[in-house]
Amino acid sequence: MKTTILTVDPKDTKLNNEIYAKAAEVINTGGLVAFPTETVYGLGANALDGTAVKKIYKAKGRPSDNPLIAHISAIEQLYALVRDISPAAQRLMKAFWPGPMTLVFKKKDIIPSETSGGLDTVAIRYPENKTAQDFITACGVPIAAPSANTSGKPSPTRASHVEYDLDGKIDMIIDGGSCEFGLESTIVDVSGLTPCLLRPGSVTLEMLREIVPDITVDKAVLGRLNEGERPKAPGMKYTHYSPDASVTIVRGSTEKTVCEINRLLEEHGAEKCGVIATEETKDGYNTENVLVIGSRRHPETIAANLFKMLRKCDYYGYKLVFVEGFPESEIGLAIMNRLKKAAGYNIIELD
Ligand code: TXA
Ligand code: MG
Repeated sequence: MKTTILTVDPKDTKLNNEIYAKAAEVINTGGLVAFPTETVYGLGANALDGTAVKKIYKAKGRPSDNPLIAHISAIEQLYALVRDISPAAQRLMKAFWPGPMTLVFKKKDIIPSETSGGLDTVAIRYPENKTAQDFITACGVPIAAPSANTSGKPSPTRASHVEYDLDGKIDMIIDGGSCEFGLESTIVDVSGLTPCLLRPGSVTLEMLREIVPDITVDKAVLGRLNEGERPKAPGMKYTHYSPDASVTIVRGSTEKTVCEINRLLEEHGAEKCGVIATEETKDGYNTENVLVIGSRRHPETIAANLFKMLRKCDYYGYKLVFVEGFPESEIGLAIMNRLKKAAGYNIIELD
């Protein structure tokens, strides 16, 4: 299969509309289109067409029990897809939609089991990114879309990442530049009595608590589950975001962290190792192989660059990667959730 790559131009509405019309034709004939959102790139198919959705699992190599998010481009589209919208869900929608938050509802029968991974619930997201909205609107159907990476690899935040993973396996990529937030959406389950955070993201737990103070947090958000324990978001059980290198997180005061990573570099031989550092610490390391992920003073820059940096580790062929840890508050909870998974929970705590 040849993958067509089409680039939108924010200043050229006519060109963009032609692109969305072509993409809609692919979707409405059961094909796959990757598209940008404000979180990461998604790999889209018609969420109401089980046969089309199956192709997503095949292209990504994704386990079929891991359900997909259905994307909409207007609140009205929600009512045909889900049942029992609670007052808490309505408050969350009002506060954070459109935006980087996904809600899990009880599903209506129109959602095929391929999209819901066999569950009786369905995850819905209303993205804010203009290209995503215009694309979904042009298709005229909800768009099922996981992140557009090969299963297990870091999520794509640029069209080139999608091309690297999926070229020849999907019909089209809409290139809309780099993604603003860079981490996948916050997921909240609103299908039960009390809302529950299933995956942390740029809509932070602190922000959610302002709207739904009684929100609970699924255990899988914070750390590794014990043998036999199941996360509520099936995808949280899989190894994820991993570069080929073996990743170790080192967490403590910045001074101790730099000191310990320098010791590890000496122990393992600096040439084959990479360090993921911050603006504040980058000059402290005894190696050239330093990737700067962002600034501790602006944690959103760390979130936006995280997946790109993990992909770079493969590009440079590092065998071992040492990454600084971050405090687990606000966006730090989502950053550490992704880093811990990338590291297989391999973390050195210094304090
Ligand atoms: O930001 C995002 O959410 C991106 C963009 C493309 O929208 N999408 C994304 O999809 O990250 P994906 O498939 O990579 O992650 C979806 C997560 C998985 O962990 C999955 O198990 C969980 O959502 N999920 C989907 N449906 C669910 C449901 N009904 N109940 C619980 N978890 C669900
Ligand atoms: Mg994913």
